[in-house]
Amino acid sequence: MKVYRIGLIGAGWIAESKHIPSIGRMPNAVVAAICDIKPEKAHNLIKMYNLENVDVYSDYKEMLKDESLDIIHVLTPNPLHCEMTVNALKAGKHVLVEKPMACTKADCDLMIQTAKEMNKKLTVGFNWRYRPEAQYVKRMCESGELGEIYYAKAHSVRYRSVPYWGELITGNNGGGILIDGAPHSLDLVLWCINNYEPLSVKAHTYDKMKGRPEGNMWPAWPEEEFKVEDSGFALITMKNGMTIILEAAWLMNMLAIDNTATIVGTNAGIDMQGPHKVRVNGVKCGKPYVLEPDLMEQLPPIPLVVREPDPGLREEIEWLNCIENDTEPYVKPEQAAVVTQIIEGIYESARTGVEVFFD
Ligand SMILES: NC(=O)c1ccc[n+]([C@@H]2O[C@H](COP(=O)([O-])OP(=O)(O)OC[C@H]3O[C@@H](n4cnc5c(N)ncnc54)[C@H](O)[C@@H]3O)[C@@H](O)[C@H]2O)c1
Repeated sequence: MKVYRIGLIGAGWIAESKHIPSIGRMPNAVVAAICDIKPEKAHNLIKMYNLENVDVYSDYKEMLKDESLDIIHVLTPNPLHCEMTVNALKAGKHVLVEKPMACTKADCDLMIQTAKEMNKKLTVGFNWRYRPEAQYVKRMCESGELGEIYYAKAHSVRYRSVPYWGELITGNNGGGILIDGAPHSLDLVLWCINNYEPLSVKAHTYDKMKGRPEGNMWPAWPEEEFKVEDSGFALITMKNGMTIILEAAWLMNMLAIDNTATIVGTNAGIDMQGPHKVRVNGVKCGKPYVLEPDLMEQLPPIPLVVREPDPGLREEIEWLNCIENDTEPYVKPEQAAVVTQIIEGIYESARTGVEVFFD
């Protein structure tokens, strides 16, 4: 059995909470190298997870020279995604880059083009797709049971969850909540409805709440460091006439469920209701109904870990399978590029005050 040697660029929160634990459960992969401009963060993770034989770098280009590495995971602030991914692909590695794929559609196109030229796999860390509720909604949409789908809502609203760490609020991450949380729910909607043809977007962003750290679930932030929007709202029109509303906030006085999707068709509608929960509504035999199916029975079997609900692990399994079997990645980079295109359009519309039309 081939054991894939993976190098991580970025030893922050997502490396610690998703990538290292998931790779650690794979029989056919190891973390072989970690790079961070603060190498002590890499050493901390090695100690935390008792990793062995891991090379530590502070310059990712040095790490890419290691020919024994098969795969690179790019886990750094968003503005670095494109350059690091392109260089890793050019060094002959397969690349999983964290979401959002990049900050601009042009950068995404360059990444996709480079992957094609180098004949390497490229995917994006949209792990919310692997959640049981997302899998169920996707299959409902594919089954045709909803009828004609003409409206959807992408919810990325948190009540009081401003992340204080790294570059998330400093302006060095390509934006605020719209480039941090919103890509997840927008990806869920586009993937469920399988429609990647946006026509236009009209959007507004706000920073009304950033002076109000009371009640935040993580430590308070220095107000002067909060340089990006704390909420944003968009009306997205698709070429087929369908409407998508996007709501995104790190803190807002609205009780909502983070990173979920609502999909509405002529026959029925379906909402994600948080972990392992969906609600289907419609009318049958003349009576309105609301159903809440048992999603733990609905997971499609995946080799190695059947009915395993951990989305990070499922992401890693799909990713290694795609490389091993030379198949298309579960999260196709062309799909993730449309998410970035819409987010880029949202920022442009909010800045200019006009509706932005896509080519
Ligand atoms: N899929 C998800 O659910 C999810 C969740 C959180 C974050 N993310 C994504 O993961 C990425 C990282 O987020 P995070 O929360 O881990 O941030 P973080 O700030 O905790 O970690 C980023 C790390 O990158 C390092 N870094 C910065 N510049 C570097 C460089 N030039 N070379 C090497 N290392 C460098 C930093 O020192 C830091 O340790 C972002 O793109 C974010 O959107 C995805």
